[in-house]
Amino acid sequence: MASEVQTPKMEGDKPSQRTKLRGRAFYESIGSPKLVLAPMVEQSEFAWRMLSRSFLPASEQSNLLAYTPMFHSKMFLEGPKYRDSHFQPLKSAMPSPPDTYHISQLPDSERHLDGNPAFDRPLTVQFCSNDPDDLLGAAKHVAPFCDAVDLNLGCPQGIARRGNYGAFLQETPELIGKMIKKLDEELDVPITAKFRILETKEKTLAYAKTILDAGANILTVHGRRREQKGHNTGLADWKMIRYLRENLPKDTVIFANGNILQHDDIAKCLEATGADGVMTAEGNLYDPTIFAKPPSIGEEGREYWRGRDGKGGYRVDAVFRRYMDIIHKYALGQEPPVRGPLFHPDDPEEPPSPPRDEDEGPPRKRQKQNKPEKGQLKNPNLTAMQAHLFHLLRPLVSKHHNVRDALAKCRMGDIDAYENVLKLTERAVKEGIQAYERDQASAQTTNSAKTNSESAPEGAHDDTQEEELDPYESSLATVARCKRPFWICQPYVRPLPKEAIEKGSMQLSKKEKKRLEEQEAEAKAVGLQPEGRVEKETLETKTSNGHKVEGTTVPVEETQQEDVEIPKEGLVCG
Ligand SMILES: Cc1cc2nc3c(=O)[nH]c(=O)nc-3n(C[C@H](O)[C@H](O)[C@H](O)COP(=O)(O)O)c2cc1C
Repeated sequence: MASEVQTPKMEGDKPSQRTKLRGRAFYESIGSPKLVLAPMVEQSEFAWRMLSRSFLPASEQSNLLAYTPMFHSKMFLEGPKYRDSHFQPLKSAMPSPPDTYHISQLPDSERHLDGNPAFDRPLTVQFCSNDPDDLLGAAKHVAPFCDAVDLNLGCPQGIARRGNYGAFLQETPELIGKMIKKLDEELDVPITAKFRILETKEKTLAYAKTILDAGANILTVHGRRREQKGHNTGLADWKMIRYLRENLPKDTVIFANGNILQHDDIAKCLEATGADGVMTAEGNLYDPTIFAKPPSIGEEGREYWRGRDGKGGYRVDAVFRRYMDIIHKYALGQEPPVRGPLFHPDDPEEPPSPPRDEDEGPPRKRQKQNKPEKGQLKNPNLTAMQAHLFHLLRPLVSKHHNVRDALAKCRMGDIDAYENVLKLTERAVKEGIQAYERDQASAQTTNSAKTNSESAPEGAHDDTQEEELDPYESSLATVARCKRPFWICQPYVRPLPKEAIEKGSMQLSKKEKKRLEEQEAEAKAVGLQPEGRVEKETLETKTSNGHKVEGTTVPVEETQQEDVEIPKEGLVCG
């Protein structure tokens, strides 16, 4: 399948002629990654990719291929502000029109964050589009800074229906074919595609073949149908992915997507589907350490915690620290603060600390000083912070409302406020671990440890449910399998659609209803509403029209305004 088109490609500051490889040969050339960090609107930005990779040893980092969030191809092509606020590969603005030779002459020191060969590769940049020229134009801007460009064929949201992109292109396979073919022929880097399955095996196979035959080099198969979104998300169908594996040409590179909640699920998915790699989105959002193998017993250090039952995970305070350090170093270009060691239960007792006043956030005066600078307002690494931390700290904030409230008050770019939330988090984790240790000690002495998960201390689990329940029938077994104490990164297990319906049909008491409404309003306020938000941007496009001047037609540039809807964070777009 590999073809031998010579294309210029930049490696560091040395321009080189590199063969554009295709299909499996391309996949092997980037290290045959088995782990794939999904494209996520406003959530798979540079800092998050760095955090996710940081838990893998350096020697294994090429085993993780990361995708950028989806960008709107027309906006990207025509809007310099949109481009520069979403993708920052150079210290200066990206040249437009793209200038591969100029870029190839730039020294390494001109490289900035996205796609930097020193730390942000392998990388795929994803676009949504419905126009081959827009897609190619946008893709040419990013090609010098990434390994591949991906076409989003999975977005199931109303805005994708209105904008005619994502999963709604299922209706026009010939348009999909045109877009992929154009990029396969004219772009310096390979084109790949991510799509959802259809209702039947036969239809899905025919659809996959169309995409493959047009020239897609990797197929990412999200094992859910277009209707499976929001409360109706349900489980992905791994059997359908297996069917594609067995019926597409053997050398097709396939990534399986869906149902990855914990590290162990990656191996299970590879086994069940026969895919080359496994992509995870929500699993990574709630637990950015999901790609890393757990350390051996006795090798936990301070960042990893293991309970007496052998179950464990990375501590949220440890992950939060790493995240903040990445924000300081890369997004703000400053040294991270010097931090003391994380709390460990074997540490000697500390004298009681003086009364604390951080809960309300840093003093007002300091808050004023910490207003974001102009350039930071559109920094994608800063705009994503609050939503990331609400995902990471989900179990913790449901118990520690002071952390939730402090995080909800954080304003974009106010790093002191986020540092304050980190302090509160560290304190909550310390208290949680200390309480666990006390419970374990007293359980041992009285020999009366409770096993019921309702009344068991944090960290104790009910394994009986795990064996008995079918995960397609009930989410309870999955909850039991994944539940960890609040100080540990853990996935959010969605109720199955029928459970959601049953829940909806339940008669709630007035008090319960009010509580749920309040929770919903809170989630909405911080951008965690499942359906997310849509932002309308007005795009100014210049068009050349023929105008009659004194009997002759002369081209005149006219500025037209066009409303384009782009999805904001929280929106599941694939
Ligand atoms: C917050 C969020 C944003 C997403 N944005 C995108 C996107 O930009 N492009 C895309 O193809 N899929 C997007 N998706 C879908 C995921 O890439 C993935 O296909 C889906 O969540 C199923 O995988 P999972 O079960 O591991 O979550 C998004 C998902 C989430 C949760």
